[in-house]
Amino acid sequence: MGITGGIAAYKIPSLVRLITKAECDCEVIMTESAKNFVAPMTLETLCGRKVHDDSSFDASIPHIRLSEWAEVFVIAPCTANTLAKIAHGIADNLLTSAAIASSCPMLIFPAMNDRMYDNSATQANISALKSRGVKIVEPSTGELACGESGKGRMPEPEQIMHEIFRALCVHDMAGEKVLVTAGPTHEYIDPVRYISNPSSGKMGVAMARSAWLRGAEVRLIAGPIDVDTYGLEVTRVKSAEDMLRAVRENLAWADYVVKAAAVGDFRVKEFSSHKIKRDGKDSITLELVQNPDIAAEVGRLKREGQVLIGFAAETDNIMEHARGKIARKNLDYILANDVGGENSAFASDKNTVHLIPRNESESVRTFSGLKEDIAFDIWSAIIAR
Ligand SMILES: Cc1cc2nc3c(=O)[nH]c(=O)nc-3n(C[C@H](O)[C@H](O)[C@H](O)COP(=O)(O)O)c2cc1C
Repeated sequence: MGITGGIAAYKIPSLVRLITKAECDCEVIMTESAKNFVAPMTLETLCGRKVHDDSSFDASIPHIRLSEWAEVFVIAPCTANTLAKIAHGIADNLLTSAAIASSCPMLIFPAMNDRMYDNSATQANISALKSRGVKIVEPSTGELACGESGKGRMPEPEQIMHEIFRALCVHDMAGEKVLVTAGPTHEYIDPVRYISNPSSGKMGVAMARSAWLRGAEVRLIAGPIDVDTYGLEVTRVKSAEDMLRAVRENLAWADYVVKAAAVGDFRVKEFSSHKIKRDGKDSITLELVQNPDIAAEVGRLKREGQVLIGFAAETDNIMEHARGKIARKNLDYILANDVGGENSAFASDKNTVHLIPRNESESVRTFSGLKEDIAFDIWSAIIAR
């Protein structure tokens, strides 16, 4: 973990905490100017090791030892100054020397005032580093510490963690294109009320995230969800009809289609454009009509070589219903999960799923645990085929 003298250094103690919580070993190198922004003792306490700075740049050749030891080299925040030095092979302090000696994946998070970022020298340095295989994570746009607003904000520590995990993962899905649907749909009755279900989108996002970590290109079509989708290309939709449109637009592109959304089966026949008032009514009757069956439509349009993976949320006869869906919807796999009762998968961080292949000579596999973990195992089982 290299830290340079940018104001965003104040976020790095939280990042180091996340790194050590993830059971990764973390060595910290600070530039002299970084020490003006964050206290070495804070970082030492959080990573449980002595922090390295230019005072330890001595005959013990720490730049060589640390660069050989690391599996991923993160520089966050990276100043315009350090970025320029690394791009030009300048090694005048411990951090830049270690950077130039390193051969592991390098992740750089530039963070600065937007005019410093847009400056053609900075942009040329970024291009040079990218062309050498360094991963530059672009800053986001928003309020900057200098009081201005623009492009230059460092991502939040949780988001940096996703990039670190991605750099550490084997990219055994590189080149694959994965389309995932996730979350519930909202079927509006009037402008302020809708019919929905308790799906959180966590399982779909876990499938998307997992493929992204393994190097795949991922597009996520999400109903109304409140889950961290950092790094994923997201299309937001509300109703089943919106979701079908978005799926159709992206279908031909995908090698794998994961249908994890809990799409509403029905919508009201007549949407009321005014809020329905309760005045004088003891009851009202809503007539519901069937929504399009997105999974079946995808099965119908499926092209040669495409792999379709559906989910079956069932409350009873789980396996039997799931097998029926494979045939009806032309799926290659179905993931059957139990959404009834107290152990419902809905909105939970955990799940138990049965991976049922269309091909009956392949065995049924059961995965249980955190959704992030089982998503990883599901992909391993599918891509191993
Ligand atoms: C208060 C303050 C905030 C700064 N914030 C940034 C910043 O966010 N990004 C940046 O590139 N430089 C920033 N600088 C300038 C760097 O600190 C300066 O270029 C320094 O030489 C960087 O040294 P280093 O790259 O060795 O850490 C800031 C300077 C000051 C005084």
